[in-house]
Amino acid sequence: MEIAIVGAGNVGGALGKGWRKAGHQVGYALRDTAGTKADELRRGGFNLLAMTDAGKADVIVLAVPWPNLSDAAKELGRVDGKIIVDATNPLTAEMELALGFTDSAAETVARLAPGAHVVKAFNVTGSDNMALAHAFKTKPMMPVAGDDAPAKAKVMKLAEDLGFEAVDAGPLKTARLLEPMAMFWIKQAFVQNQGREFAFALARR
Ligand SMILES: NC(=O)c1ccc[n+]([C@@H]2O[C@H](COP(=O)([O-])OP(=O)(O)OC[C@H]3O[C@@H](n4cnc5c(N)ncnc54)[C@H](OP(=O)(O)O)[C@@H]3O)[C@@H](O)[C@H]2O)c1
Repeated sequence: MEIAIVGAGNVGGALGKGWRKAGHQVGYALRDTAGTKADELRRGGFNLLAMTDAGKADVIVLAVPWPNLSDAAKELGRVDGKIIVDATNPLTAEMELALGFTDSAAETVARLAPGAHVVKAFNVTGSDNMALAHAFKTKPMMPVAGDDAPAKAKVMKLAEDLGFEAVDAGPLKTARLLEPMAMFWIKQAFVQNQGREFAFALARR
């Protein structure tokens, strides 16, 4: 699959590595395609795209900080009928949730790109687990929420390609639960001192 990742930071970098290993064609849409980050990605063999060309890929992944999400979503070019994966968490500078209960970052993206199929995924674990999901003794799970069934199925497959058990989390508004779930991961990792090397899994009897 052709995937354009917007944001080449912790999350974008890990997802890109994992998907390339799984055989996908990964490109990065950057604000600055002439900077040092762009050079590093080019040397690593990744395609570089202007932001306005991100919409040419089959799947566009938003991996930018919450305060920048709106700007990034508006710059994607034509995205009608495309799959946009929202991997963000709406965090304040104090690392608390900026919204919840009645709205989510994913629904914000859906309002900004009304013609696209927005899917929430890849937000409930630390970035370094995303390219290393295969390394867990128990398969970690990745909840995937979205309103368009074929789009959600494609993103669930992308989660499986990384080594996650993909879980159908229901409609996009379930992001209202998945974003606080990420907050729980963050608090466990950094306040309760679990460290970053854990992920959620479904235990069955
Ligand atoms: N870190 C984690 O473990 C983790 C896990 C799950 C979810 N998340 C969520 O995922 C998102 C990304 O987190 P991160 O840790 O990967 O952040 P990060 O390392 O700070 O990377 C952010 C990336 O976004 C790019 N960016 C910022 N504004 C942009 C814009 N307007 N247009 C295009 N690109 C833009 C930055 O590029 P420039 O070089 O141009 O600034 C940078 O490459 C956040 O919403 C975070 O809450 C993070």
